[in-house]
Amino acid sequence: MSLTPYDYKFIRRLLVNETGVQLGDNKQVLVESRLAAFLMRNKTGSMRQLISSLRLSRDIDFQRKVIEAILINETSFFRDAHPFNCLKEKVLPELIEKRKDRKSLSIWSAACSSGQEAFSIAMTLHEYFPQVDNWNLDLTASDISLDMLERAQSGTFKQLEVNRGLPARLLVRYFHQEGLRWKIDPKIKKMVQFRRINLIEPWPYIGRQDIILMRNVLIYFDMETRKSVLARVRQHLKPDGYLFLGAAETTLNIDKAYEQVRHGRTICYRLKNV
Ligand SMILES: C[S@@+](CC[C@H](N)C(=O)[O-])C[C@H]1O[C@@H](n2cnc3c(N)ncnc32)[C@H](O)[C@@H]1O
Repeated sequence: MSLTPYDYKFIRRLLVNETGVQLGDNKQVLVESRLAAFLMRNKTGSMRQLISSLRLSRDIDFQRKVIEAILINETSFFRDAHPFNCLKEKVLPELIEKRKDRKSLSIWSAACSSGQEAFSIAMTLHEYFPQVDNWNLDLTASDISLDMLERAQSGTFKQLEVNRGLPARLLVRYFHQEGLRWKIDPKIKKMVQFRRINLIEPWPYIGRQDIILMRNVLIYFDMETRKSVLARVRQHLKPDGYLFLGAAETTLNIDKAYEQVRHGRTICYRLKNV
């Protein structure tokens, strides 16, 4: 079930062309195990057949499914915790105060994976900012992976997923159990709109955002791609809006238009000259 160096090179090129994600030399074993799991799930052929189908077939849907099987979708509710404290204690109170006349707020969770980040924000808003209940709230979550978006849209999570990062109080308040799964409260679910956006392709209309969370995805891109994505984020952030990146990501030495804002352990970003 192993890939030849030639096959692995082909898969790397396919992934980078379609998603911008760069796979290092050390990721071959990971890719092999992802593809083996894909073959098991779909009960189809061998690794050899899969690679030749990818090389020869023009079946875009098949190609997409294989790519999605390789992408890393690691996420959790309230991932890293402190950025959500920063949202709750600083960013949301500040922007809600500024927008209180227009009563509108737009938030984009880009590369949202199975939706835990967007639902964490929805629960934070519902729990701590009841004043925005009747606002025009635009909470968009996007990912390249249709498989992840389908899971996110179902609002259904495994026990293991609700055990990670979600305070017990919020589990009891906003989820109910259905068999082995936990279903999110429809009022939280309907706060989030999901859509497919590939960050390295032209973006569909998304409008200027008050807050953009683009966490743990730039890390997989090369420097040029990070630069071009951050330049586009600039066009989609309101002049006083905030950008959140992952713990291992930064705008430093990539895009001078951003400045850092520190709050406790969190560093988030704003456009300069606000
Ligand atoms: C490691 S997860 C991060 C999820 C979430 N943002 C977080 O921090 O927990 C990375 C996500 O980026 C998505 N992704 C990878 N390349 C992408 C691209 N070109 N455009 C949009 N999403 C992409 C993957 O499908 C995956 O769901």
